[in-house]
Amino acid sequence: MTLEELSASLYNCQRCKLAKLGRTQVVFGVGNPHAEIMFVGEGPGYYEDQQGEPFVGAAGKLLNELLQSAGLSRSQVYIANVIKCRPPNNRDPEPDEVDTCKPFLLQQIELIKPKVVCTLGNWATQTLLEKKVGITKVRGKAFNLKDFVIFPLLHPAAALHQGNLQEPLREDFRKLKAFLDARSTAETSPSGLPSESQPTLQGQQVQQTQMDLFGS
Ligand code: URA
Repeated sequence: MTLEELSASLYNCQRCKLAKLGRTQVVFGVGNPHAEIMFVGEGPGYYEDQQGEPFVGAAGKLLNELLQSAGLSRSQVYIANVIKCRPPNNRDPEPDEVDTCKPFLLQQIELIKPKVVCTLGNWATQTLLEKKVGITKVRGKAFNLKDFVIFPLLHPAAALHQGNLQEPLREDFRKLKAFLDARSTAETSPSGLPSESQPTLQGQQVQQTQMDLFGS
């Protein structure tokens, strides 16, 4: 299955109640299908639902600016959401909606094979870490899963609603840039060690596993 085939298989998806609750279209994802870095938000809002593309509204404009600050462009990365359909009035996703849509996010990740998945906000972070952990506790840190690293960041929409989160959000992207820079340096390191064997990246401890992290 290719990414396009997966996308086509979800066109007009009716698997959960959001299909009947006023969504205009399924918002699958956008960007480089071979991206090394992927960003995952919560779900489409009004403009995303209208245009069929994630992060095109106000939060998207801020995300574009933050990507640039980290030396990344929108076309270089891949951007998706946990749920692919807009909930009515932008309410939070409900557990059955997340459960229905999560396998498709995992399939997207499996097909794109990113090295780093940046989760934006609580929903994406908890969904992919499979742990009910607050974003404030894990933001700006790298968590090694089996096939990729999860790097949680504050959600741009949260910073638009709460001005005091603007600076912490920018700080998260500075940490992301430092992490990515250290990662590419480690990959080309003359030490001969594979990058996984190098325990720290610019003083930023890479968590070994989700288990270690949460002590469960
Ligand atoms: N917020 C999200 O989480 N995703 C979008 O696509 C837009 C806003």
